[in-house]
Amino acid sequence: MKKLLRNLAWVLGLVVALWLGTCAYLSFTHPRVAFTAEELARPPAPLPKGFLWGTATSSHQIEGGNTNDWTRFEAQPGAIERGETSAVAADHWNRMAEDVALMKAIRANAYRFSIEWSRVEPAEGTWNEEAWARYADLVRQLREAGITPVATLFHFALPLWMADRGGIAAPDFPDRFGRYAAEAGRRLGPGVDLWITLNEPNVPMFLGYVTGQFPPRKQDPAEGMRAFAGLLRAHAAASAALRAADPGAKVGVANNLMLLEPRSRWMLSDWLAAGIVDAFWNWPFPDAVRDGRARLRFPGASLDERIDGLVGSVDFFGLNYYFRYFARMAPGTPEMIAMTPGPGLRSEVGGSPPVGDSPPEALFLLMKEAWRRYRLPIYVTEGGIADEKGTMRGALIRGQVEAIQRARAEGVAVEGYFHWSLMDNFEWEKGYRPRFGLYRVDRQTLERTPAGGADVFVALAPPQ
Ligand code: FCB
Repeated sequence: MKKLLRNLAWVLGLVVALWLGTCAYLSFTHPRVAFTAEELARPPAPLPKGFLWGTATSSHQIEGGNTNDWTRFEAQPGAIERGETSAVAADHWNRMAEDVALMKAIRANAYRFSIEWSRVEPAEGTWNEEAWARYADLVRQLREAGITPVATLFHFALPLWMADRGGIAAPDFPDRFGRYAAEAGRRLGPGVDLWITLNEPNVPMFLGYVTGQFPPRKQDPAEGMRAFAGLLRAHAAASAALRAADPGAKVGVANNLMLLEPRSRWMLSDWLAAGIVDAFWNWPFPDAVRDGRARLRFPGASLDERIDGLVGSVDFFGLNYYFRYFARMAPGTPEMIAMTPGPGLRSEVGGSPPVGDSPPEALFLLMKEAWRRYRLPIYVTEGGIADEKGTMRGALIRGQVEAIQRARAEGVAVEGYFHWSLMDNFEWEKGYRPRFGLYRVDRQTLERTPAGGADVFVALAPPQ
């Protein structure tokens, strides 16, 4: 009996030691970083000349007057909060010159916009010359204003003809997308410095095919896998097409990354929860681009497949950063994992579960991790906050520049920052309530006026 007890004590001791040892090891390899209040109060080190300092937008969210899979989705009752639609958006299609002047006024030297595929190819194989000319004119205006154009080809919205064939999960999506990319490269190539083939591929895959919040509103992980592979193939085709059209083209993807922390650093199951979400959300797409192989697992579906044309298909790493979460296992809930925000600045996008917080330290850690994995120059292709009163945006921008400067000081090649967004716009299924703009847009008059935080953006601009 005594012996049994002694053995039990040994086993228990061993288990506890292993547990604590593993947690200590994980804590050591994933150190917590905290910028102090004093560090965040003083201005960050000045950004160097040549650093790209810009804003980011997307066609569907600002142009108004589009017809695509999102406008069809918006017509469904309950799809968009308050029944709002993108019909007017920020009316950018008719105000391009005015909006370029807004960029100049806040000392931006770069601009990330997206081309609306449904405008330039309204019917399959038919190019709309007038729409192409409008984008070419935008590029010309930007260059004249000393603003570097950065163009995205796919930012969530698809032409109806493509959606009707099965959208991003359709077998011919990569081919059609490659053809569109070739056309964009041929027409705009020399004027555009950086190309982003896809915006946040994990978002339309997950929200469109797993949770069903985005079109095509499916909850079918197996089809989600096909969409994921299709996006990878489409990226490869577009990268090749852009480079063929302009050998100097620099190509990348804007990846949505979130920082996942364990709720408690002494709970192995919390580390597991954070690790699962991190492995599912953050890295499958960029790892596949690096390795030439798509690997993704989800309950009930998995993918493991070689894809040609991926290796070497990017020249930089685009990083969209919004959220940090604390994770723990939540058995008995449908999601199995619970994610809660930390105590930092919180975007006012609403919704349930609550969005994460947006501390600059998380951006710092994500840039370091992306650099460790890929050793590619990094552009922060989006960072921003929904902030109705404009009381948080300045602190967010200052903190993000601090994060960039620290990463640079540690040898990470961060070469640009694009604030989301130039002006308030149509925030997908949330409609117009979240206000992300450096310029506030009056919903009645569409007049643009500087929002809180625009002064910080101006003050931190690198030398012209
Ligand atoms: C990003 C999207 C962008 C915008 C911001 C707030 O995930 O790329 O279109 O909705 O969030």
